[in-house]
Amino acid sequence: MDGNGRWARQRRLPRVAGHRAGIEAARRVVRAAPEIGIGTLTLYAFSSENWRRPAEEVSDLMGLLLTYVRSEIDELAAADVRLSYIGEWRQLAPDIVAELERALERTQRNRGLHLVVALNYGAQQEIVRAVRAVAAEVAAGRLAPHAIDRATLEAHLDTADIPPVDLVIRSSGELRLSNFLLWQCAYAELWFTPVLWPDFDEIVLREAAEAFARRERRFGGR
Ligand code: IPE
Ligand code: MG
Repeated sequence: MDGNGRWARQRRLPRVAGHRAGIEAARRVVRAAPEIGIGTLTLYAFSSENWRRPAEEVSDLMGLLLTYVRSEIDELAAADVRLSYIGEWRQLAPDIVAELERALERTQRNRGLHLVVALNYGAQQEIVRAVRAVAAEVAAGRLAPHAIDRATLEAHLDTADIPPVDLVIRSSGELRLSNFLLWQCAYAELWFTPVLWPDFDEIVLREAAEAFARRERRFGGR
């Protein structure tokens, strides 16, 4: 979800105003996703690398995250949305972790859209954590090195219960993956748009979904 800062600068507003508008865009997309036929939607909300931003911006982002979860949980629960998080979200501030846990618990039995929020997430860090967990099993004598396969690794990723990525949408004209779901994107289709995230809406989402539907996916076959 990129482009909040540029959106704010274009309007001579503080960056936090861009992040606030970005939350509105996230709301629109979560509402529209089920109608478009999206079963799982992952939002890259805060990366492991975002800590490098000025402390004031990090604190604005954390404040907005708390506000979003608090203000959205009733609607998400009513819309049958099931929430999950990936990344080291338990390392966030205790009040945020507590709120995130409450929201998780409230939506676990829902059967509608699976909404995955990447929080304090970095794909390389995720892979390292998975490798450590696998190595611990080997060290404990429960797993033989030659028995390790792709499924072993996948079962230890944060996305163990989430299907591989079909489509990556990146806003604001950047043409990068930025440490997002690197393993899970092995055969993902990529779609880039110059639209800044705060301007993202159902129409852009439909455009992406239509582009995806026209792609021919071969997974290495012919
Ligand atoms: C993305 O927008 C928001 C988050 C990282 C949460 P940016 O803040 O990266 O916006 P630009 O790239 O400066 O426009
Ligand atoms: Mg950016």
